[in-house]
Amino acid sequence: MTAAWVMPLSLDPPRVGLAIHPSRFTHELIGKSEYFALNILTVEYLPAIHLCGMLSGRDLDKFARAELHAVDALEIDVPVIEEAVAHIECGLIGRLSLGDHDLFVGDVLAIAADDELFGERWLQLEEAPLAHHVGAEWYAAVSRLYRARLPGEEEAEEAQEESER
Ligand SMILES: Cc1cc2nc3c(=O)[nH]c(=O)nc-3n(C[C@H](O)[C@H](O)[C@H](O)COP(=O)(O)O)c2cc1C
Repeated sequence: MTAAWVMPLSLDPPRVGLAIHPSRFTHELIGKSEYFALNILTVEYLPAIHLCGMLSGRDLDKFARAELHAVDALEIDVPVIEEAVAHIECGLIGRLSLGDHDLFVGDVLAIAADDELFGERWLQLEEAPLAHHVGAEWYAAVSRLYRARLPGEEEAEEAQEESER
């Protein structure tokens, strides 16, 4: 299923969380297998992303309908999406009922990412514009980056560059 409510929870050990409504087939599957994978896709696959968020795997084979391909994961016995630029494979270590959604906590067991797309600044956004959900049927990709600096940092960098010339 498409999931927007996904977040990092811990760096060391690496852990992630996702909030899933109990009505989702995915909720049942993760509950049974105790494993899940996050698949990160670019806007190139927007029709597939939207389809997987609107239709249920209870009613149809979403891989076939969305024209996505299932491939073996590195560590877990759950398939991942071949078209994704990165996969985060997780084992379920906790589940919290907080309201109408349940928070699934995953221990990260393996990750795979396209080396050419993950660089110093995390992702080469020009080549891999990730799909960000902005509400209803609307999505956005980042087209401009802003660099934040602490007071004095920019001047210090300029002075450093000047001294190296
Ligand atoms: C962009 C988008 C983001 C979504 N994010 C979530 C989410 O974080 N949690 C959730 O429970 N459902 C979310 N949904 C809804 C599920 O993806 C949707 O109900 C899906 O059909 C469930 O599929 P399944 O029954 O095969 O698990 C989202 C849907 C869209 C379109």
